[in-house]
Amino acid sequence: MDLASCFTLNNGVGIPTLGLGVFQAEPGEETHDAVLHALETGYRHIDTARVYRNEHAVGDALRESGVPRSEVFVTTKLWNGDHGFEKALTACDASLNRLGLDFIDLYLVHWPVEGLRSESWSALEQLYDEGKCRAIGVSNYTVRHLEELLAGCSIVPAVNQVEFSPYTFQAELLDYCRGHSIQLEAYSPLTKGLKLDDPYLNKISASYSRTPAQLLLRWCLEHQVVTIPKSVTPVRIEENARVFDFEIVAEDMHRLNSLDENLRTGWDPTDAS
Ligand SMILES: NC(=O)c1ccc[n+]([C@@H]2O[C@H](COP(=O)([O-])OP(=O)(O)OC[C@H]3O[C@@H](n4cnc5c(N)ncnc54)[C@H](OP(=O)(O)O)[C@@H]3O)[C@@H](O)[C@H]2O)c1
Repeated sequence: MDLASCFTLNNGVGIPTLGLGVFQAEPGEETHDAVLHALETGYRHIDTARVYRNEHAVGDALRESGVPRSEVFVTTKLWNGDHGFEKALTACDASLNRLGLDFIDLYLVHWPVEGLRSESWSALEQLYDEGKCRAIGVSNYTVRHLEELLAGCSIVPAVNQVEFSPYTFQAELLDYCRGHSIQLEAYSPLTKGLKLDDPYLNKISASYSRTPAQLLLRWCLEHQVVTIPKSVTPVRIEENARVFDFEIVAEDMHRLNSLDENLRTGWDPTDAS
């Protein structure tokens, strides 16, 4: 496996297993430089969102990199204020314009917005049928939200992007997604840095001569979960990419799994009605 290696989504589209996230990367130069460096390092997957306000910089860096469009997987997301059938269609066009792209590889419903999420999903199905998105999916959906969606949808979401790390090991959700051919994708896989000093994590990573960040990313990949670490720091972008040349033994996977404490570094959709 390497940075171009893919898992296959339920519609046959390949998604590179590791991508660069750009949440909290400043719009403009900071995002542009991080994306460009990631592409030069070999990353082939970028995760942005309308609400990050940096879609424009992602598109600019992509074009400047010279990497063919067909080789880069770009995800963006429908923001909460853009829910509803017509508004979702318009929001996708606006994201395409800001990115300067003809299609989005993966368009996600960012959050299960009450009352409107079903209508918005119908819009994403239309966008998929029109070829504006190669795959559609959701984010921050719990099993309950997925059950509701699957009961009424024409297209099963290809992806569910959620917080996922040893400290937020959502085993039940992972099983549910696997059972329904929905690819789980890990956001905040580095716990936003909060747990990188954990002595236990450091002890295990040292035994592999790896950094804690590399161990956390490899742990996601061992679970067959796509992962999208964010960094705007060139050496970290490179460090986070060096996770394809080692494996975590089963015993250590169990140890890492047992670190779960339902950590939520951002929002928690558990009670989202
Ligand atoms: N769908 C959603 O609701 C949702 C929510 C959150 C995130 N996401 C997506 O998931 C991506 C990743 O999640 P995240 O940004 O929340 O957090 P994260 O990737 O877990 O952590 C990012 C933080 O870790 C630092 N970092 C990166 N690599 C490091 C390394 N090797 N060693 C030490 N520190 C390192 C970064 O600093 P520097 O940048 O300064 O290097 C940044 O402060 C986001 O960018 C976004 O694309 C989606």
